[in-house]
Amino acid sequence: AYTSLYQYSLPIPPVKEPKRTYTSPNGSVIDYYEIDIKPVQQQVFPNLGQTRLVGYDGMSPGPTFVVQKGREAVVRVLNHGDRASAVHLHGAYSRAPFDGWAEDLIQTGQYKDYYYPTGQNARTLWYHDHAMDHTAENAYFGQAGFWIIHDSEELAVPGLPQGKYDIPLGLTSKRYNSDGLLWSPDANGESTSLYGDVIQVNGQPWPFLNVEPRKYRLRFLNAAISRSFQLYFENNAGTRQSFKVVGADSGLLTAPVTSTSLDLSMAERWEVVFDFAAFRGQNITLRNSRAVGVDTDYPDTDEVMRFVVGTTVTDQTKNENLPSTLRSVPFPPTKSAVDRIFNFQRDANGWNINGAHFSDGAAARVISKPPRGKVEVWDLVSNNGPWTHPVHVHMVDFQIISRTGGRGTVSAYEKAALKDTVWLNSGESVRVIARFAPWDGLYMFHCHNLIHKDHEMMAAMNITELSD
Ligand code: C2O
Ligand code: CU
Repeated sequence: AYTSLYQYSLPIPPVKEPKRTYTSPNGSVIDYYEIDIKPVQQQVFPNLGQTRLVGYDGMSPGPTFVVQKGREAVVRVLNHGDRASAVHLHGAYSRAPFDGWAEDLIQTGQYKDYYYPTGQNARTLWYHDHAMDHTAENAYFGQAGFWIIHDSEELAVPGLPQGKYDIPLGLTSKRYNSDGLLWSPDANGESTSLYGDVIQVNGQPWPFLNVEPRKYRLRFLNAAISRSFQLYFENNAGTRQSFKVVGADSGLLTAPVTSTSLDLSMAERWEVVFDFAAFRGQNITLRNSRAVGVDTDYPDTDEVMRFVVGTTVTDQTKNENLPSTLRSVPFPPTKSAVDRIFNFQRDANGWNINGAHFSDGAAARVISKPPRGKVEVWDLVSNNGPWTHPVHVHMVDFQIISRTGGRGTVSAYEKAALKDTVWLNSGESVRVIARFAPWDGLYMFHCHNLIHKDHEMMAAMNITELSD
């Protein structure tokens, strides 16, 4: 390993402040932000040279946006990076022109204004690069950050920690050259996967976090390019500890779900409440399982981060028990007929969905036209290789109905969730249901192994008033 484990503290990205706030005569308020994509030199390993990253405001991860439901936002993104960028606010129901369509590029030296209505319920979103052919490179070198929506219902839930007890944890997996610079997937012509031997949380390899002996809300995001995680918490004696899963991509679950392990494929978010009260003066280590999917293991890829538990609680707010119900989740109405089947496949030219490659052009890549407002059932299928394909459908929240083949089951916490990304493992068929709303327009859906995305495993849906 490059550095000893758990020697450096977990960075918490700063909260992004609006540059201006406008109030219209009718009282509606809109926040205006500016964010600058620019390079930064950073010491990642104490004993190697500095790393050169290109991040939002020169940070990796970027600053965290924390917004209230109902508060509109405009974000001007200036690009002073190395190449064209596009910004996708992952999990937001943005209008199509602001959704980060891969060819809607901000060239270097240019800017684009993105408008976000912020009408969705509380949830953990993230914003990241989405540029045609270079998403993996751009996200990997730093263009990714958290975007958290709060709402009054969620803030009122007892036992759901807030403020300094609410911690975003963005996991990545990276590979470095011996000079300390990142190994580049673009420069090395990588067309399959980039697993990486270095596990980072919020940009720091294998960090530690000092915590108080009380409950914490941990917002997990897998921001890695190709590595999936199967996480677990263990105490000093190596015993697995249980925790409560409380949230997913699209907000709070119906009820807390107790678990001892957590599957987290690329772009998925899962929120967990972990109670450190029983571990005063001890360590709780967050570990990753071996042999997850087809991922390559390295000596320390089963280590993630460590929580160093203190002896005093300074604030008991939201430290009570969670209620038995968290919220009434707006699941789509049930429906059994399957509307569409999408096969995620490898081919001689890269990767495709039902044979379509994104660069095949408009006629070939628009492979679905759900009428706006319609509830559809989609089967997502991976049946030609050992690959993991986390499937992300833009704009909609979906419910996972079934999983057959492969792992063959929908986990208890998946059952309680609405999602925008689902882990489709090798040999699996996953059935999801969603209402295709609220807007019309062209939206993307794709594999979130960003190397696969850049090698054409991406298609479009045209949400329209017309039926197929
Ligand atoms: Cu997180 Cu279309 O991506
Ligand atoms: Cu894939």
